[in-house]
Amino acid sequence: MSAVQTYLDQHKDRFLNELLDLLKIPSVSADPKFKEDVFEAANFLKSQMINLGLDAVEICPTDGYPIVYGEKIVDEKLPTVLVYGHYDVQPADPYELWNSPPFEPAVKDGKIYARGACDDKGQVYMHLKAYEIMKETGGLPCNIKLMIEGEEEVGSENLGPFLEANTDKLKADVVLISDTSMISMEHPSITVGLRGLSYVEVEVTGPNIDLHSGVYGGAVANPVNVLSKMIASLHDENNHITIPGFYDDVVELDENQRKAMAATPFNLEDYKQHLDINDVQGEAGYSTIERTSIRPTLDVNGMWGGYIGEGAKTVLPSKAFAKISMRLVPNQNSEKITALFQQHFESLAPPSVKVKVTPHHGGEPVVTPTDSVAYQAAAKAIEHTFGKTPIPQRGGGSIPIVALFESVLGLKTILMGFGDDSDAIHSPNEKFDLYNFYKGIETIPYFYQYYTEMSK
Ligand code: BES
Ligand code: MN
Ligand code: MN
Repeated sequence: MSAVQTYLDQHKDRFLNELLDLLKIPSVSADPKFKEDVFEAANFLKSQMINLGLDAVEICPTDGYPIVYGEKIVDEKLPTVLVYGHYDVQPADPYELWNSPPFEPAVKDGKIYARGACDDKGQVYMHLKAYEIMKETGGLPCNIKLMIEGEEEVGSENLGPFLEANTDKLKADVVLISDTSMISMEHPSITVGLRGLSYVEVEVTGPNIDLHSGVYGGAVANPVNVLSKMIASLHDENNHITIPGFYDDVVELDENQRKAMAATPFNLEDYKQHLDINDVQGEAGYSTIERTSIRPTLDVNGMWGGYIGEGAKTVLPSKAFAKISMRLVPNQNSEKITALFQQHFESLAPPSVKVKVTPHHGGEPVVTPTDSVAYQAAAKAIEHTFGKTPIPQRGGGSIPIVALFESVLGLKTILMGFGDDSDAIHSPNEKFDLYNFYKGIETIPYFYQYYTEMSK
């Protein structure tokens, strides 16, 4: 058994208990009600970093939630890995669908159930414990800088300015992130791309107050009816998005790339069964894997208006609202897409209503190289601990800061995530398998070792 495995075996229960303590802190960045808890999570990580003997540990304030930073510079001449992760989590609503409370982590059947278990506290914690193992079993082979933020789930809007103001402090050779998932433990994979995001909120206003739906219904525009129709028109019968210019910058994959994608292990029947759906649905001419990675999307995330309380109230609502996300692919640009959306959406409105479009956060799509030393090192590390060559796979989610690591710091990113698609991130009963947690901790030290050796 390797020294890494031996140390891990001896300390695995403590590693888990420490993570459970972090998971107990409801660090929901989207909801100001949890403000103190978000700061508490930052403090927790700071103490852990100090306990690990990292240097220059500090909580770096921003206009929003802070960034927790720590480093170990063993030799200026050796490569430097910048590790990024986030300690904030998505809201846990709806609470009633959780089998155990989201911030009272439960370990059941070898899985940790809690909000943030996989996204991203569990995966951040793997990096801290991988560092501990390296430190205790023979040293860190290169330099490490850790940067854990608290606003990823709300768009990382203060992190760009932080990068710009700290280019020296953050100087590194590569960024390492564990905030994605693998195809499965049997089919380990490395994420080689992320989608970008445009997020908007729309408001449709009809009459100036809610009206009696019998007295006025039929003669005055109903904003919920109108909004539904406007939203429905955003896709055509082939599930193409109808916003003019939306696809203009989309990079199409060539036949070889599409063939490689088609070869990734994927079982449509399992997929449907897992989601309890009779069929999938999406853009004509593309597979499910393509629809969730290399094609852009438009989805309503929430929609409301009028009476939604108990029983029936006969009312013609004054207003209707929706939150809409668009996932973007290379080379779409979030500001351009948001502007195209706004223009088109406003043009769709009949004269009987007023429309307001409010842009929220955005982020740019990225593709990461597979021919770099860092990718080869990550692949070799995974081969070592999983016994299989990882499959490069484009991811469908977004991590807005990755594009900025490249544009502001000139750094490429390795997305070496250890989640599983069934981890229910952002959903009730989010989980993280202990197997994945420990496998991640075991794999990360090999990345450092191979990356340092292969950089020579
Ligand atoms: N960790 C996810 C992103 C992710 C998950 C990428 C799975 C690939 C596979 C991240 O925390 C996340 O949820 N990002 C948000 C973006 C944000 C701006 C709210 C997302 O993708 O919705
Ligand atoms: Mn995440
Ligand atoms: Mn997330």
